[in-house]
This record gives sequence, structure tokens and C-alpha cells, in this order.
Amino acid sequence: MKILVTGGLGFIGSHTVVELQNEGFDVVIIDDLSNSSMKVLEGIEAITGKKPEFEQLDLREKKAVQDFFIRHGTVSGVIHFAASKAVGESVENPLLYYENNINTLVYLLQQLQKKQEARFIFSSSCTVYGQAEKMPITEDAPIQTAMSPYGNTKQIGEEIVQDVARVSGINAILLRYFNPIGAHESAHIGELPLGVPQNLVPFITQTGIGLREKLSVFGDDYPTPDGTCIRDYIHVVDLAKAHVTALKRLIEGKNAEKVEVFNLGTGKGNSVLEVVNAFEKVSGQKLNYTIVRRREGDITQAYADTAKANKILGWKAQLTLEDALASAWKWEQKVRGK
Ligand code: WQD
Repeated sequence: MKILVTGGLGFIGSHTVVELQNEGFDVVIIDDLSNSSMKVLEGIEAITGKKPEFEQLDLREKKAVQDFFIRHGTVSGVIHFAASKAVGESVENPLLYYENNINTLVYLLQQLQKKQEARFIFSSSCTVYGQAEKMPITEDAPIQTAMSPYGNTKQIGEEIVQDVARVSGINAILLRYFNPIGAHESAHIGELPLGVPQNLVPFITQTGIGLREKLSVFGDDYPTPDGTCIRDYIHVVDLAKAHVTALKRLIEGKNAEKVEVFNLGTGKGNSVLEVVNAFEKVSGQKLNYTIVRRREGDITQAYADTAKANKILGWKAQLTLEDALASAWKWEQKVRGK
């Protein structure tokens, strides 16, 4: 069975391709290489012994998407990662986000709705909840007004999938990620460091390796035990495995509705300082950091209620924060040739 993975050379996409190939799926990747490199394809092959089919395509080109599906008529499932995902950049350049995250989704769904039956897995985010009232966050927590165009594209994307699945042969699962971190244990793939990292863990590992002078902790005056923000950091390999579980659910027709929604997290919240301390423990070295003022738009806390994913989807995160940080550190050292 051939599965299309868009953004399959990206951070979560590449780890998901590894798990799909480990489970015997044939994978074809579309990636525009705007935030990745062909070295990731070699990494996937090094891990699985199998090189996935690959096409460098810009999904914003409607004709290119149509032609792809003519060439690959047997594609029977799509896992759609390809999107721009930098919150700050989306505020500066909203139309880049609406074009790249919405138009591409429409063009993909136009092709899938032509099929009798199609399976679609959509990469969404806990960002749709904004600052949820209640912790841990369940899937029926209210969807708040998006705090960025990026977050809005995820909310709109979910609504588009709901509307199209209702009137087509598409069965879909929306996966709302919390904070993906870490790297494959082999260190053949990981979070590619392109530019100054916006996210916490790559900034920590680049500080640990000496590439960055110090980590700025964005605020320690939040209403949390140690004053720093709390997030649910999930190992990217656990996250990847959840995608295979979700795809199998659709293939086996076990989905209870045309569109199902699952939060993907560990169910545990950790503060920024707890992540720093865990990194110091796994790396055996002190991390240079300073407390600065809050970052605009950050929420105080978000961690998942994982009951639905555990009981209905049949998936549970297995790896710990320290496992994830140790793998991220190993990857950073490999990338820097240390
Ligand atoms: C985590 C915590 C920061 C960097 C974002 C997106 C979300 C998803 C994951 C795509 C926060 C603090 C960070 C630093 C710091 N992306 N921090 N110093 O903001 O929770 O979520 O990435 O789907 O949609 O919103 O992740 O890693 O940026 O921040 O103190 O240099 O680390 O304030 O509390 P975030 P993050």
C-alpha cells in the first residue's frame, strides 16, 4: 500500500517515514526542500535499508499536485505534514502562511475526493487551544481565537478537512501535537538546525555544543511552581509511531467517525527550568542561561489529557523527557561532528 507523506523530509515527517517503512508501507515523499535537505533521505535509508520514492514539488502549484496524482494513482493514504510552522514569522508574513498552509491542503483534498475511498491524516497542533482553561487539555476543550496566523491555519485546516470528509470518501484523523522534541536513536535523522532555533530544545542543544553563547529563558514570572512556562514535551519517535497507528486505524476501518481528533502528548507537563535541568543531567554539563522577559504570545501552560489517544487510538507515549533530550544531544553532537 503506497502512502504519500508530504513534508516527509521534515522533522516529524522523516521520523514518520522511518516508522511507516519499518511497518512495511511503501512511501512516496513530496517535499519542497524549503526547510530540509536531501541528506534526510539518506538518513531514512540508513535506518530502514529502504529509500522512499521522492519528488521535489511545490504543493502551492495546483497543476503539479494534479499531475502527481496522475503519476501515483495508487496512493491510498496521505499524511500531510508540509506546512510553514514558525509562529513569529506567520505574524510578519501572514499571506505566506495562508497560501502555503491552506492552498496546499485544498489542492491535496481535491485529488483525494476523486477517489472512492481515501485516508487522510492532518498534522495539527495544540496551538488551536490557545491558553486552555483546564489542565490537562482534552480534545473537546474549546478552540480559542488563534494567537497567530500559523495557529489560524491549523484551525482553518481542521475545518476544511471536516467539511470535505463529510461529503466525500475521505476518512480523516486530525492529530494535535504538543511539543515534539528529540531525534531518532541512530542519530541518522533529527531536527535540522536551519537558522537560529525558535524552539527551546534545539536552542538548548546548540548552547550545549557551544554554537550559542547562552539560552534566554523567556520569563520566570508566570503563575507556575518555578515561574517558567510548562509544556508537554513528546519524543518525536513516539509521535511518529502515533501516525502509523492512526493510519492503520483508517485502513482497518476502525474509525468511529469520518473525522476523529486526538491529542498527542505524554500527559506530563515540564517547565522550561525542568527541561534545562534534565538536559544538564543527560549531557553531564552545566547549561549557560539567563532569565529575560517573557516572549510575546507565549501561553503559561499546556499539557495533554492522553486518555482518548491511549484508549481509543490505542497509542501511548513510551519515551521520557530525558530519553528525548539525550537523543537530541546525541544528534546535535553528530551534526557538529563532535
Ligand atoms: C517552549 C517553551 C518558551 C525558546 C511552538 C508552537 C507550537 C508548536 C511547538 C508547531 C516556551 C520557552 C523557548 C527559547 C525559552 N509548533 N523558550 N527560550 O512556543 O510551546 O510551541 O512550537 O506546531 O505550535 O507554538 O514551543 O519550543 O518555542 O517554547 O524560554 O529560546 O520554551 O517561552 O515557554 P512553543 P517553544
